[in-house]
Amino acid sequence: MLFTPYKLGRVTLRNRTVRSAAFESMGADYSPTQKLKDYHVSVAAGGIGMTTLAYASVSRSGLSFNSQLWMRPEIVPALKDITDAIHAEGAAASIQLGHCGNMTHISTAGQIPIGASNGINLYSPTIVRRARRAELEQIAADFGRAVRLAHEAGFDCVEIHAGHGYLISQFLSPLTNHRRDEFGGSLDNRMRFMRMCLDEVMRVRDETGIGVLMKHNMYDGLNCGIQVPESIEIARVIESYGVDGIVLSGGFVSRTPMLVMRGAMPIDVLTHFMKNRALALSIKLFGWMMMRPYPWSECYFLEDAKKFRAALKCPLVYVGGVVSREGAEKVLGAGFDLVQMARCLVAEPAFVRRMETEGPDCRSVCDHTNYCIGRMYSVDMQCHRNVEE
Ligand SMILES: Cc1cc2nc3c(=O)[nH]c(=O)nc-3n(C[C@H](O)[C@H](O)[C@H](O)COP(=O)(O)O)c2cc1C
Repeated sequence: MLFTPYKLGRVTLRNRTVRSAAFESMGADYSPTQKLKDYHVSVAAGGIGMTTLAYASVSRSGLSFNSQLWMRPEIVPALKDITDAIHAEGAAASIQLGHCGNMTHISTAGQIPIGASNGINLYSPTIVRRARRAELEQIAADFGRAVRLAHEAGFDCVEIHAGHGYLISQFLSPLTNHRRDEFGGSLDNRMRFMRMCLDEVMRVRDETGIGVLMKHNMYDGLNCGIQVPESIEIARVIESYGVDGIVLSGGFVSRTPMLVMRGAMPIDVLTHFMKNRALALSIKLFGWMMMRPYPWSECYFLEDAKKFRAALKCPLVYVGGVVSREGAEKVLGAGFDLVQMARCLVAEPAFVRRMETEGPDCRSVCDHTNYCIGRMYSVDMQCHRNVEE
């Protein structure tokens, strides 16, 4: 089943595997680099059905890192070069589009960071201002514009990031949305910004035929955040737009980052590579309070994801702790349409090819010590197996 083709929008994937959006931190000045291309081409050559470039911002105001992509016409030729090379290896290409909202900094965003509500970004210390309606309309339009640029750059699909505590998720979650206007309070109001973005995205989808996936939180991981029942209601609205699939995840990068990935929080690695030594020291001292660990287990989101499978008809994409052919087949057997993987493809870009050739007993070498995560924030996403430091 894992190696049966799958039709996603207008493109047919050669199998059911997708390289999940996992921030490579391989851009420079918000633009693609040869290193970013080489990595995704290696995953494509390694047998993946579709690979996803991570975490591109739809506008300048949504950027957290210099090594992130910012969707703008100037980078379309370089992106086209990457999608051409991915296609030449037989894989499809996708790009994750989002806006980091309150997780940005003036130095990257070019303005005081904006979020659903006023606050502070502790990770890149700065104050955050609540976004105005006109700004939200502009960002929604930016989502549509970014999808069009992705189409021009040869991507088969886009993945809209509506989870993990980034801007759309900041509006959905009562944890970060304290507004009393039309964007806050009731679930209907909290979904308003997401719907504005989806209106724009799906209009461009209808014109171009590009595939659309949406990454969505099943739960935020905190009592006052989104829980499964409310998340299912949100997923039903996303489904009603006719998206090509919903990617089910969970967690808030600012509060429960390890809920997304599980396993050890590599505070030593994170602080070792940080340039801001004062911030590194405070994370070393207090990081354990901000980043509580969640134990890793194989396919750790599966039981929660099944609740969504039972409630929804649209295609669903599973992500979280897939490290073996057996695990991937189990996920598909539970009714999911595609399987995303991140860390095992950081450790071993050709893991899919190995699963195909070695068969049912094949397992990843990834040990989820999460060195790749600690390193990503300051250098680039690499597995400790593949570097000499
Ligand atoms: C280094 C790294 C960077 C990540 N960056 C992103 C990201 O940019 N966007 C996103 O939605 N998820 C991101 N994730 C989460 C992954 O997409 C995925 O949901 C999570 O790692 C669980 O999948 P896995 O067990 O196969 O690694 C990242 C994960 C890792 C390990």
